[in-house]
Amino acid sequence: MKRVTIRVPATTANLGPGFDAFGCALSLYTDVTFEETEYGLEITGCDEAYTGPDNLAYVSYCAVLASLSEEVRGVRIHIDAHIPICRGLGSSAALLVAGAMGANVLRGSKLSTQGLLNITNAMEGHPDNLAPAFYGGLTASMVDNGLPVCVSFPLHPDWEFLALVPDFDLSTAKARSVLPQQVNRADAIYNIAHGALVLKALELGDEKLLRNAMQDKLHQNYRKHLIRDYEKIEALVRTTGAAFCLSGAGPTLLCITQDERLEEKLAKKLDSITEANWEMLPLHIEFQGARVIKAE
Ligand code: HSE
Repeated sequence: MKRVTIRVPATTANLGPGFDAFGCALSLYTDVTFEETEYGLEITGCDEAYTGPDNLAYVSYCAVLASLSEEVRGVRIHIDAHIPICRGLGSSAALLVAGAMGANVLRGSKLSTQGLLNITNAMEGHPDNLAPAFYGGLTASMVDNGLPVCVSFPLHPDWEFLALVPDFDLSTAKARSVLPQQVNRADAIYNIAHGALVLKALELGDEKLLRNAMQDKLHQNYRKHLIRDYEKIEALVRTTGAAFCLSGAGPTLLCITQDERLEEKLAKKLDSITEANWEMLPLHIEFQGARVIKAE
């Protein structure tokens, strides 16, 4: 095989209290095609700034070949990204996953998904986006002795995710830089308890329980000042009965509901309370993880 296209879903990490642990795959995708060539690197389909050897798809492609002790020959990479960049919807994780899977498939699929997760987690530092990107659905992950251990959780199929994506970006590095190094015990207990109930509410399809449990003391309060109109939007969403959280490190804000009219209800008011432009993206759960969609 010389050419392969990998499709990776968007992911929302944290889901409120599950900081660096919970993640869910969503119905928005980045497709990346890898074609082996004799020499050199060519990357197309993205901004010029991302066409060098530090492109994450190429970095993880090389990392997988290195772990297989295989030679890196030339590669042509084409990126067709529908996951918005630096918005908290797993665009970086998607590139890492695509690069790892692309290299593995082109060289005979010798590594398991867990093996690819180990390699990409060493680059990303936390598996909360990577796990649902690889496996689909809802996952919770821990890192034990340096290696990610991920478990899939059942999800009620009726949930709808409405992502509110602003016209400004926020780097994960900046959103992590405002977090305290130490947390107090009451806040840690709060998140453990709320996190467990979030998982149960998502399984049961219990919107009231989800709304109450999807609260956090470890990251959202420290990050909200980086996101214009966060509090106004949160207050608006809470009047509708939907659950609300920051998607990953932000700046996308996420509403989770079973109300098919949520978008319509928010559309009427969102523009009048905010200065930035917020695109509303209605998304579903993606139960399938990264996969090969074309191989030649
Ligand atoms: N759990 C991560 C964070 C997700 O909130 O910083 C973004 O990589």
